[in-house]
Amino acid sequence: MCEQSDLGVLGLGHMGQNLSKNFARRGIKVSVLNRITAGERGVVSEFIQKNDSLACNISGFTDLELFVNSLKRPRKILLMITAGATVDEVIGSLILLIEKNDIIIDGGNSHYQDTDRRVKSLRDVGIHFIGCGISGGLSGALNGPALMPGGSKEGWDAVKDLFQKISVVEGCTTPYCNWIGPDGSGHFVKMVHNGIEYALMQIIAESYDYLVKVLHLSNEQISSVFEKWNDGLLGGYLMEITYEIVTLKDSNGKLVLDNVVDSVEQKGTGKDIAICALEHGVVVSTITEAVNARFVSNMNQSRAIFSEKKTKNALLDHDSVISSLFDCIYCSQLIAISQGIELISEVSRRRSWNIDIRNVLSSWDQGCIIRSKILKNFNFSLENNTFNEFLMSEISSPKLNNFTKSVSLGIQHQVPLPVTSAALAYHQALCSSSLPSNLIQLQREYFGSHGFEKKSKKGQLSHLSRDI
Ligand code: 6PG
Repeated sequence: MCEQSDLGVLGLGHMGQNLSKNFARRGIKVSVLNRITAGERGVVSEFIQKNDSLACNISGFTDLELFVNSLKRPRKILLMITAGATVDEVIGSLILLIEKNDIIIDGGNSHYQDTDRRVKSLRDVGIHFIGCGISGGLSGALNGPALMPGGSKEGWDAVKDLFQKISVVEGCTTPYCNWIGPDGSGHFVKMVHNGIEYALMQIIAESYDYLVKVLHLSNEQISSVFEKWNDGLLGGYLMEITYEIVTLKDSNGKLVLDNVVDSVEQKGTGKDIAICALEHGVVVSTITEAVNARFVSNMNQSRAIFSEKKTKNALLDHDSVISSLFDCIYCSQLIAISQGIELISEVSRRRSWNIDIRNVLSSWDQGCIIRSKILKNFNFSLENNTFNEFLMSEISSPKLNNFTKSVSLGIQHQVPLPVTSAALAYHQALCSSSLPSNLIQLQREYFGSHGFEKKSKKGQLSHLSRDI
């Protein structure tokens, strides 16, 4: 009988393939399985052929029972399949073949409440279930992804070594893979990661639009601005790929970007975090606006009808506009990250998950899509400060003046800035000792007798004395 595998990977999409290679390259024996529906018949054999050099560590299967039987006990099965109903279907088939104490790890972007449910129902039948957020795209999966595992701690203890091994990036010794907490907390943290990802991408895209529409810079010029920014405080994976993307050329020497339709899709985690934040009363306006910006981008017909020819602007001092924009991007990114972290803290508190925020920030240090200097500084500063202290000390003069100046200049030039302007509005509201919310309370009272709290009678509901 041939040697059994340490782990099984079920689902050979791009992510599943690269993770399997990552395991195999690090000396971990993997069994891989893919369905054999139309169009996917040859996936397993092609994968095995292409990775001939790793043959001693990879065994391919198209039959679920043979795949399960090829695994060492307790069996460890990583699901790399589309989130949603398919995960339940696959678990339903697996459960008939596996045994008590076996471990299933869901590496997709499942909704954290689905993971809550699966952890519980599988625990009831003696199976350990782990919801593990995986970030870093295809290259991360191959070379060292950031992992956010949550669910069965006992199951995690049994698979930890394998997963920590694959999350070590070349040249580093630290695995970017820390235990998050019980239930669906790993997938919850991944959802917040993705929300921050949406906001950071939109902020960078807004700054690109700004440099085109306010300063009329060419893509080459914008690329060098971004490259310079990437060397400083705004450095990070997304900035790094963006300065390359904006100058990519096709075989005819034309900019690829100019030939891409300006409508963005989404798989849904951005929408999920916006709903979750509304349900918990936490403000993630930058993330919600990034989701809304994707919806607006899909309103192509209206945008075509209502678009106006923009006139050329008056002469502006380029250096000063660019340096204000730098502060604007910095402050907006900081606010987007802090809103995401606030949501993690609040949900963790309500669910008694005890998520260690510094631990989450450390998992995002390398490997993931939102890795950046700002995140590293955030983590570092939390040693001595609270979150809000850090935010307020960072977003103060002269950065704050530049932030405000930059947003208003963009608006004057009709550049849509949904996320950066939402970030500024959030900061301004946070720094306002008075807000017009008293007026809204009286409006509610006036039309619906909903009651309001008087400064002189705190904690009591008062009403206007009038006859309706
Ligand atoms: C990651 C990414 C990844 C996500 C894509 C697409 O961390 O590697 O977050 O998990 O699926 O970025 O997301 P959208 O289709 O929602 O933009």
